[in-house]
Formats: sequence, C-alpha cells, structure tokens
Amino acid sequence: MKNHDSLWINATLTVVTQKGMPETISPAAIACKDGLISYLCLMSDLPQNPDEMATQVIDVAGACITPGLIDCHTHLVFGGNRAEEFNLRLQGHSYAQIAKQGGGIMSTVSQTRAATEQVLENSARTRLDQLLADGVTTVEIKSGYGLTTADEKKMLRVARRLGESSALSVTTTFLGAHSLPPEYRDRRSEYIDLVCNEMLPSLHAEGLIDAVDAFCEGIAFSADEVDAVFAAATALGLPVKLHAEQLSNCGGAQLAAKYSALSADHLEYLDEAGAIAMANSGTVAVLLPGAFYMLRETQKPPLSLLREHKVPIAIATDANPGSSPALSARLMMVMACQDFGLTPQEAIHGMTINAAKALGLDNDIGSLQIGKTSDLAVWNVKQPAELAYWLGGNLVQSVIKAGQSIYPMD
Ligand code: NIG
Ligand code: FE
Repeated sequence: MKNHDSLWINATLTVVTQKGMPETISPAAIACKDGLISYLCLMSDLPQNPDEMATQVIDVAGACITPGLIDCHTHLVFGGNRAEEFNLRLQGHSYAQIAKQGGGIMSTVSQTRAATEQVLENSARTRLDQLLADGVTTVEIKSGYGLTTADEKKMLRVARRLGESSALSVTTTFLGAHSLPPEYRDRRSEYIDLVCNEMLPSLHAEGLIDAVDAFCEGIAFSADEVDAVFAAATALGLPVKLHAEQLSNCGGAQLAAKYSALSADHLEYLDEAGAIAMANSGTVAVLLPGAFYMLRETQKPPLSLLREHKVPIAIATDANPGSSPALSARLMMVMACQDFGLTPQEAIHGMTINAAKALGLDNDIGSLQIGKTSDLAVWNVKQPAELAYWLGGNLVQSVIKAGQSIYPMD
C-alpha cells in the first residue's frame, strides 16, 4: 500500500520557517495525497525507497519547488484595452488627467458594458492562461468596470465561471466603488447608496462576492464614501480590501485598518500612522510594482516603515488595461526587488504566503506545509532567489494544482 499519490524528489524546496521567512531545504522531497501536501523532508530522511512511497515519483533533478504563486490583486476581466491611452501617456498626458477627461477607467467601463459575457470570458481566459504559464495557481479578480448592477454582475459571473472552468482557483472581489460613473456626476451619494443598498446585497445573495474593495483617491472616492461601503460589506459579513494611498494620502490605510481589512493595496503615499494602523489590524500591504512602473510614479511605498512595523508585504500584478497591463507574476517579483528594494526572499513570500493572507486563504494555501493544498510550481532554476532575478522568460517546468499537473497541458 503506497501512502502518497505523487512524490517529487531531488527538489530545492522553499518552506516557511517559524520566523515566517522562506527557507530553502535541498535536496528534498515533497509528496501529496488527495490534493493535500502529505509529506516533506530532506532526501536523506526519506523513510523508504521513493517507489514504495507513492504511485507516481517525479525526479526534478535539483529544480526549485515553491508554492503555486498567488496573484492577489487583478482586474483581469475587462473589455477592449488601452494601448492608445498608453501612447498618450508616453506623450506626457498623466493618468489623472486622462481620467478627468473621461478616459482611463471610464473608457474601459464603456468597453466592458458593451461586451458580452462570452467575449469577456474569452479575453480574460487568455490572460489567465498567461498567469498559469508563469506559475500562478490562485488569482483574485475584481469587478469595477461595470458600475451598474447588471454590468457588475456580468463581470463577477464571468470571474466565477473562469474559476469553475479553468484549472486555477479564482476568488472574486466586488469593486463597485471603483470610479463614479458619469451618469451620477452630480449625484455622488446616490451612487454610493446604489453600491451599498442594491449592488452589494443582490450580488452577495447570488454568491458572487468573496470580498469587497474600493478605490480611495481624489479621482475616485473619499474615505467617508468608502466608509459607507465598508460598513455595508461588514454588515453582510464580507471581508474588505482597499486601493489606498496610490496617488496621494487620503487616509485609506487607516480606514482599511478600522475595518480589519484583509489588505490595503498600492500604498506609495502611506504614512507612519497608516503603517502602524495596518500592523495592528493585521492588514497586508499589497505592493503593485506594475502600476508604479507604468505610471512613472516616483514615490515608492515606504518599505522601511512596513518592515519596522512588521506589516506583512504581498506583491501582485494589478493586471488591468490601464495602469498595469501586466501578465507575468514573476516579473512583478523582480520589479518589487529592483524598484522597491525588497529582498528576493521577501518577494517570494509576497507572492505566496502573504498573498494568501491578503485573500484570507493562508490556512489553505501559500506555503509548503503538510495539510495545505498541494498547489506547487516547479521551476527550471536551482536557487529560489533566481525567481526574483531573471527578467522575463518562462522558467516554469510544471504547475500542480491540488496534486494534479495542470501545466504544461498534454
Ligand atoms: O489598481 N487604482 C485603481 N484601479 C486600477 C486601475 C484601473 C485602470 O486604470 O483601469 C489600479 O491601478
Ligand atoms: Fe487595482
């Protein structure tokens, strides 16, 4: 009787130590049974011959195995794209200027409203496949380009269907408070009422919402407006997250902390009071180097404050058609090191265990620990630090989801 379904041997494993930082053990072995990690040890400690332990034995010859990467902040479902707007930005128009003139998020809103669910699903699936080929096994997808009840519902249904029909896990986040739709220009409070009293309850009743997000910013919603959305979400028992302090400091981090948010994201303009509040509420700081880079932001998120106050740091693609048309999770790890000053270890942590925390899933995924779901990425590198070093390229050898090989496809 073999105790395990699959056993990977001669691997370099990234495990999470007591102190919470990833550590490498090598040469090592990892096994799974019924979709869960069932064994983990140095090769020299293997109790039996590998063939006697598992139905399938895979010798990875020194390759690194990490938890499957987790992209905890994306806007992967949207209509059209904004390559033209990028061109405008290259000519000196700012993101905020373009947004004020009705472009930016609103241009994607028009294209998303006009698209059918099938068109949205097909285009998002292409992007999801890119993330999978980059070692990602769990993706969060936000709504926020519909901004009517029907169109937000359309986006979330597409996200749910992607989760059901693709090999990856998808979590959904309702982002009705992403941008004020032009039809509500002089009726801001009516739009917030719509989000709180119609969109949230009805989409939640349909099981379409795992978390609730908002964009707290001068060009979007004030802290008071977001407060109302968070109060409504909390009343429904839904966890919250926030786009905070991206272009200016609006007190978003403290508001997020007040609601024990899973995460506050972007944070270039975070101050010490915000960092302390996040530390106290266990809110993860999700850094988004793709948006920082594409918007030519010069203010970096205050890494030393996050470290000093022990705020867990995650990294995500923020994949969206405007500020971050990013399709590689691993590239974000490289950029988080190069542009923000993270260590490669912090970057790996940021795309695994801390990203899991930012989704409230850290009991199930995000680290190589017995009992967790067997979501693994096997990489064609010998040292984990290389994951945050090679600029582009496809380093993935294989991706395992709940014990099953999902990439490359046969
Ligand atoms: O995370 N900051 C707000 N929302 C997105 C941008 C979306 C867009 O430009 O379409 C972001 O950067
Ligand atoms: Fe975003």
